[in-house]
Amino acid sequence: MEIPIYHKAITKNALAAGLDATVYGTLKQGLQSPGLASGLFMGKQFVHIMRSLSFHQSPEDFILLLLPELSETYIKDLLKEGLELADEMARPERGGAASRWDCAIVYAVAKGMKPEEVIETGTGVGATSLMALRGTDGALAATLTTFDREESVTGEDAIPYYRWEELPLSGVGRLIPEQDQDRVVFVLGDIRQTLPKWVHEERLSPRNPVRALVILDSLHTPEHQRFEMEYIWPVLADGSVVLCDDTTYGWSEHVGTYINCGFLGGIKK
Ligand SMILES: C[S@@+](CC[C@H](N)C(=O)[O-])C[C@H]1O[C@@H](n2cnc3c(N)ncnc32)[C@H](O)[C@@H]1O
Repeated sequence: MEIPIYHKAITKNALAAGLDATVYGTLKQGLQSPGLASGLFMGKQFVHIMRSLSFHQSPEDFILLLLPELSETYIKDLLKEGLELADEMARPERGGAASRWDCAIVYAVAKGMKPEEVIETGTGVGATSLMALRGTDGALAATLTTFDREESVTGEDAIPYYRWEELPLSGVGRLIPEQDQDRVVFVLGDIRQTLPKWVHEERLSPRNPVRALVILDSLHTPEHQRFEMEYIWPVLADGSVVLCDDTTYGWSEHVGTYINCGFLGGIKK
């Protein structure tokens, strides 16, 4: 159902878009839990939402805090370009694609920081993948390594992924154009197995760190997000940026220790 004021607010305002996603996630997750567990979850979530709101930064300030070397005018231009790209992008109904604001921020951070590599957990339909690719076009075009499941499932995060019988381009990552094939590595399977294996096989270690843009957007539970951070953080070089889309409830204990725009979390190493 289209509610004009509500939908306009979500389109125009990064905070409204984040709030919409977190309230939806809270209700969905909360109502699935029985009795007391449901009440406890919702209560904890309410505190998390209030605290996140008090730490919220505008998209411009969020990027400036992560990349203080950029000028405010340049950041505004990058966000404008990112929003234009996000608006041109197809929006499949399913697959949990990031909001237009989160997409614009991914693009702006990618273009502003020029990472050596992009590492993404949760390819989904590939909205954030596409933004990161467009943000790193050019002579130093970064490789995107992106992780998702191989099989069609209903996610534990309760998003029904009815999808992708053919992999990878018409399912996972379907928004990623074929022209980018050479820059994209799909790692398919359960991230709990594929991520440790990939880090090991790529010989990534604190002695051989990489300056990366990391986008965490797979399962949004605290345990899972912590697991991903434990594997990725040590192999990142200084200057790397981690964007966590989103911090709906995953990073609830850490509010205030990361930069937060709506419910997009950001940390610079
Ligand atoms: C919110 S969607 C990603 C949206 C995407 N970043 C975009 O903007 O289009 C989350 C994705 O994470 C994947 N995912 C969740 N848990 C996973 C796991 N344990 N292993 C692999 N993929 C997982 C789901 O299959 C889903 O495609």
